[in-house]
Amino acid sequence: MKNLALLAPPGGGKGTQAERLVKTLNIAHISTGDIFRSIVKGTYKGSFPVNEILDYMNKGLLVPDDIVVKITLERLNQDDCKNGFLLDGFPRTLNQAEMFDKLASDKKLDVVVLLEVNEDGLIKRLTGRRSCPKCGKIYNIYYTPPKKENICDDDGETLITRSDDTVETVKKRLDVYKNETMPLISYYEKKGVLKRVDGDRSVEEVFKQIMEVIEGK
Ligand code: AP5
Repeated sequence: MKNLALLAPPGGGKGTQAERLVKTLNIAHISTGDIFRSIVKGTYKGSFPVNEILDYMNKGLLVPDDIVVKITLERLNQDDCKNGFLLDGFPRTLNQAEMFDKLASDKKLDVVVLLEVNEDGLIKRLTGRRSCPKCGKIYNIYYTPPKKENICDDDGETLITRSDDTVETVKKRLDVYKNETMPLISYYEKKGVLKRVDGDRSVEEVFKQIMEVIEGK
């Protein structure tokens, strides 16, 4: 069993790598960002403060810890997580990490992969991102474009741009990452589970490096 987490700035490649890792390792993918987008779309079961969540996301701010932790713990209790899971975008604050350690002590993280990415390229990655509303596949118009412009290679759906991928919101999300999420690097380093990977290489090279650090554990 492998319990993993990906730590990276917005646009750092968490979703892109998660898509490949969960297929290869046969573990569950838990993306808190995807869960919130499903809540906003009305396709995630439960009753949630939808407008409040959308407002935080569109401003580039974090959704409050109590909401995130509750949703993540509920998701982790589903059957598909028994074989291991990959957390993508959680935890994002020291408080979330501490609450997770306390409330999910039977689900300890084996490896936390930090994708180290140069900040200069992130705005281009995010403003160039397009994703498939049906299968979730992630593209980039500059680096990994679909074969046919704006159409998903796998299912022919028209690709969409995320509402929080504007230059202004991306800058705010990067500030939030530095102030609230980066302290997690030393938190997991002290626990001896942090592994650093160069996230500025090609998607395939980053994937290869992540598999090496996971298998080396
Ligand atoms: P979330 O969806 O998690 O957004 P994020 O962390 O800002 O990360 P992104 O999804 O933007 O980027 P990514 O690292 O997945 O990169 P990707 O692989 O897509 O969260 C959204 C919002 O939800 C938050 O702002 C917050 O409001 C809320 N939220 C979520 N979790 C929360 C939590 N725990 N607590 C509180 N609030 C929470 O790649 C980006 C682009 O780059 C793509 O176009 C891709 O094709 C391209 N790319 C990827 N890898 C490469 C590469 N190696 N080379 C070139 N291009 C690449």
